[in-house]
Amino acid sequence: MYTVPIKKLKVILFAVFLLVFLQLLGVFHHPFEKDFYDEFRYPYDGDLEPLIEKLKHNQTPEVSPINSYNFYYYKNCDTKCKDLTDLRIIYLVKSAPQNFHRRLAIRSSWGFQRRFSDVEIRTVFLIGLQNVANLQISINEESQRFNDIVQANYTDSYYNNTYKTMSGFEWAVKYCPNAKFYMFMDDDFYISTKNVLRFLRFPTNYPKYLQEPFGLIGQRRALWDLEFELEENVRLYTGYVFKSAPHRHLMSKWYVSLDEYPYHLWPPYSSGGAYILSNAALKDMYYASFYTKHFRFDDIYVGILAYKTKIEPLHCEEFYFHKKPYYKFNYEYVIASHGYEDPKELVNVWNEQKSLGNA
Ligand SMILES: *[C@@H]1O[C@H](CO)[C@@H](O)[C@H](O)[C@H]1NC(C)=O
Ligand SMILES: *[C@@H]1O[C@H](CO)[C@@H](O)[C@H](O)[C@H]1NC(C)=O
Repeated sequence: MYTVPIKKLKVILFAVFLLVFLQLLGVFHHPFEKDFYDEFRYPYDGDLEPLIEKLKHNQTPEVSPINSYNFYYYKNCDTKCKDLTDLRIIYLVKSAPQNFHRRLAIRSSWGFQRRFSDVEIRTVFLIGLQNVANLQISINEESQRFNDIVQANYTDSYYNNTYKTMSGFEWAVKYCPNAKFYMFMDDDFYISTKNVLRFLRFPTNYPKYLQEPFGLIGQRRALWDLEFELEENVRLYTGYVFKSAPHRHLMSKWYVSLDEYPYHLWPPYSSGGAYILSNAALKDMYYASFYTKHFRFDDIYVGILAYKTKIEPLHCEEFYFHKKPYYKFNYEYVIASHGYEDPKELVNVWNEQKSLGNA
């Protein structure tokens, strides 16, 4: 009988482990990826511009939509934006049904609608459905009391985040079509409304325009002329922008198969935790969704919508997708920071920054 010498066995075992390990890492997927720059196609594969124009004007496009987010709203604060002629920005906070305390903290900090007497801002919370006893009763009460809940018919779960985001897009287009800007964020973020507004005055040069040697001029110009950079119909899509590759290791929370997405890169996309769209961008991207197959990661889906409508995302470092370590004096220019799942901490930080004139 032939027996494999122990040494040889070790080598074979090692090779097998290595192969399994590399397979788990997704190494063998990469050679089969398609080149994003040369080959990117995502259904519907055709010129969207004329179709979007038709949809915008309530006409019937030549090609029927391939996708539709036709939500039913269990809770709908449909008068939120009514009769507002000069709404600067609306916050659409992606929340989870049970996060009552976070919503309370947001309403009393950065989401406070009367933060500035001369700038109209509004806040709504996007939530889905969860089958938990008595949860809906509390949500009904909350909705009645605060009139800021947008609850649509999707199951609230991580892989349904695209539904949450698109319920926000749809709600905004239907019930709040006149805001200048729309900001989407998660409910565990710190936001400085003051810096959001300062950023939007000069997005390509923030925060430099507020600093020396431009500081004084910048501040003055900002006061005189509230939007001295952006044109009326600008298509702005901005946040912390990634140019990254799909995860191919099988253990990843973000694993994607080649079948689901075959390209070696994602389209450039803003981190989903906090980003801003101008009115024109929101509408183009919303109507583009009728011709863009659903994708389960919402930040990627929004990136695909932008790519298909030829909107290039604008990157800004002051949107922190992780938590920027907190010290009193290093939040001066922060627009958004992740990592505030504790409502008390959020309120404390926000109060301190507000007293310093940074929030
Ligand atoms: C929500 O309800 C509408 C009908 O009102 C339906 O067309 C749609 O498919 C539902 N969406 C989901 C995600 O279940
Ligand atoms: C997403 O929501 C739909 C509609 O409620 C539901 O049928 C589906 O199971 C949900 N998916 C996940 C992953 O929760």
